Amino acid sequence: MENVLVSGGAGYIGSHAVRALAAAGHRVVILDNLSTGHREFSEGFDFVEADVGDSERVGALVKKYRISAAMHFASFINVGDSVVEPAEYYMNNVASGIRFIATLQKSGVRKFILSSTCAVYGALTEARALSEKDAIQPLNPYAHAKRMLEIVLEDFAKAYDFRVVIFRYFNAAGAVKAGGTGEWHEPETHLIPNILRAAMSDGKTPVRIFGNDYHIQGRDGTAVRDYIHVGDLVDAHVRGLDYLQAQPGLHVFNLGTGNGASVHEVVTAAREVLQLPITTELHPRRAGDAPYLVADNRRAHEILGWSPTNSGLKSIIESAWVWEKKLATVKNRH
Ligand SMILES: NC(=O)c1ccc[n+]([C@@H]2O[C@H](COP(=O)([O-])OP(=O)(O)OC[C@H]3O[C@@H](n4cnc5c(N)ncnc54)[C@H](O)[C@@H]3O)[C@@H](O)[C@H]2O)c1
Repeated sequence: MENVLVSGGAGYIGSHAVRALAAAGHRVVILDNLSTGHREFSEGFDFVEADVGDSERVGALVKKYRISAAMHFASFINVGDSVVEPAEYYMNNVASGIRFIATLQKSGVRKFILSSTCAVYGALTEARALSEKDAIQPLNPYAHAKRMLEIVLEDFAKAYDFRVVIFRYFNAAGAVKAGGTGEWHEPETHLIPNILRAAMSDGKTPVRIFGNDYHIQGRDGTAVRDYIHVGDLVDAHVRGLDYLQAQPGLHVFNLGTGNGASVHEVVTAAREVLQLPITTELHPRRAGDAPYLVADNRRAHEILGWSPTNSGLKSIIESAWVWEKKLATVKNRH
């Protein structure tokens, strides 16, 4: 069992990870500056409110809690903002990220897991699943910043006894019902929460669809993504941590289902699951959006024994809906 430091543990995916780690018997400490996170997500866990770039605080808490492993979820995540404000993204996601990694290494932490993204692969010209061996071609500052941290970690893993897993997530979605947390981003740019908000508005607020002219054979023209349930994502993290017990070096895994759903297909699935009217509004494509992003997830299956078990659209939408209704009441209280 490990003492695990979880940066960004007061955010959407990190808050699920801390619960999964605790359920697996690990001791968890959350490190989050609450820039986009929510204090209520940290309730019941040791929580340090600080920036990952604050080497003094990080060094001290590693010592105090005898941290042996870290999971790094803390990051700004809005691709569009990263294009408009690259300086903020590089400062927070790269500069502070490197300080964090270097402080952990110096403080004796030997196992590290990074939340990376399928956006490091860029846009394919053909519709096929992406494997870890595919070319790296980040299209925006958010993705560049993730790739930069990956490169830093490659060198750390070569030079030091510093074991690394890099997980490249496809589209995280859904919520673990028992956990009491979920997707809560302001503003929300992700498709599924926006569909649910449209459903709550009784058809008055449409879901914005960016582009219906992507030429993907046999599909409806809207962009295709691989939606992975957050419970499946964090299960991979628990397995990744176990894997690092015996494995030195750096290991990269895609986390997705291998199945793509178009924007129209997700909207249709939500109408069926919720039995509510959901209206849509067509907009031009967004710059930098890839037409088709679907994971080849065989590596995670073969090496970590991981398979997504809960990532059907129905289960994602149902669980996200339970959370979204809760979130509406939480927001009313704020
Ligand atoms: N949501 C997705 O679909 C998706 C896809 C690919 C990759 N990712 C990656 O997964 C990770 C988690 O994403 P999320 O959706 O949970 O985001 P989130 O915004 O809900 O959580 C990020 C958390 O990090 C904290 N944070 C940010 N900068 C910090 C800093 N400098 N110091 C301390 N805390 C800081 C925020 O307060 C927040 O609690 C991110 O690294 C993101 O890039 C997410």
